[in-house]
Amino acid sequence: MDPTRPTGADALVEALLGVVGAEHVLVEADLRVPYEVDWTGRFRGTARCVVRPATAEQVACVLRACARHHAPIVPQGGNTGLVGGSVPRSGEVVLSMRRLDDIGDVDDDHGEVVAGAGTPLAVVRDAARAAGWDVGVDLASRDSATIGGMVATNAGGLHLLRYGAMRHQVIGLEAVRADGEVLGRVPALRKDNTGYHWSGVLAGSEGTLAVLTRVHLALVPLLPDRVVAMVGVDELGAALHVVGRLRRRLTSLLAVEVCFADGVDLVCEHAGLRWPFPERVPVLLLVECGGPAGSALDVLDSLSAVLGSALEIRASAVATDEPGRERLWAYRERQTETISALGVPHKLDVTIPFRALAEFPERVRAAVAAVAPDARVILFGHLGDGNLHVNVVGPAADDDTVDDIVLRLVAEVGGSISAEHGIGVAKRKFLRLSRSPADLAAMRDLKRAFDPNWLLNPGVLLEPDEHPEPQYPPRP
Ligand code: MLT
Ligand code: ZN
Repeated sequence: MDPTRPTGADALVEALLGVVGAEHVLVEADLRVPYEVDWTGRFRGTARCVVRPATAEQVACVLRACARHHAPIVPQGGNTGLVGGSVPRSGEVVLSMRRLDDIGDVDDDHGEVVAGAGTPLAVVRDAARAAGWDVGVDLASRDSATIGGMVATNAGGLHLLRYGAMRHQVIGLEAVRADGEVLGRVPALRKDNTGYHWSGVLAGSEGTLAVLTRVHLALVPLLPDRVVAMVGVDELGAALHVVGRLRRRLTSLLAVEVCFADGVDLVCEHAGLRWPFPERVPVLLLVECGGPAGSALDVLDSLSAVLGSALEIRASAVATDEPGRERLWAYRERQTETISALGVPHKLDVTIPFRALAEFPERVRAAVAAVAPDARVILFGHLGDGNLHVNVVGPAADDDTVDDIVLRLVAEVGGSISAEHGIGVAKRKFLRLSRSPADLAAMRDLKRAFDPNWLLNPGVLLEPDEHPEPQYPPRP
């Protein structure tokens, strides 16, 4: 017997071994562990096995084998999602996409690149930058988050206010349906108005409709001359006035992020940093601007002029050099890891209409205190997009009382229960707070059309349909 072959293999596992080889079908518990728990530690389950194809053809063969065995599948990229959408629930096959990490040459005349779905964002970004371009979406998890996962979840990130979400960066894609059929075309064309656009349908579908294998991305011009400012104000309403002025007056604006004093205290303690200003202020705005090479002084002057005219600002720090900019970004980017070090967080990523935003922090803290008086609530987010990350630490991972109370409040003020993280399993039962019955019915119709046996990421986004028998004849 081949000693590299997993023992106790079932018929599906045998079929998968035939597709990707023994080395890339993980059945032993200790090998599966990293694929079975999400980044937050809140969501976990057991996989039947983990399969790691290297090509789109192998992905199609894996999906056909799973369809023949009526085996549900959880597609997984970098496993950096925060809503439990990329980890198994109960015995699914985890389809790890990380080996599809080939990247084509950057088209430096037109700012385009084709990347395998498993390519980490940082790799695509480095390739783009080397050619004078950049990727429009950036995230703190850039070293692990994969391009396919980012499209599947329609990731937002730090520069959405300038460049839009991940779906706006996609020229075209290639994806495999649950029955093994390959959809889409890569490379694609910027103008192609020939009916349903698969990127529009699949971006944000969270692995429930098809598995992305390659993405053709539109890049944005590199803006290497960056200026980062951190400013302190007394309350969120004042911060919103500053945001309005920045947006109106600065064409170089890339990001406007917000943190609060308690969160900055935690980051300072966790990361061994000093407060950014000599005095402690309740609300901190991080502003990033960028321009082409040689424009640093102009960028700095225009930002300083806007900030200098904002009477709301009580303290400020500005950096133009890379170490200085990274130091200021750390107060914002290190919130996530700092909060996770306190315990397993309930991550409630919401958009609040600008008219209701100034009062929201107080209202949400009071709402959580009413049901979980000992919980810690730490807020931060992408203020320029009206997107706050409400992090609650204290309640047990499987107790969603605080999720319920916060998301209802969000719906009451006309917000969205998911700004950028998606729905996953964490918010599935709350989706009706943000989407109408007609929307939900149409989403289910779409799901049934793409995946009639409900094999792709069942339990994510929508409540699963029951299908005791396959609805299409399995392929030989
Ligand atoms: C962020 O904005 O840093 C990410 O969405 C991660 C998080 O919410 O923790
Ligand atoms: Zn975010």
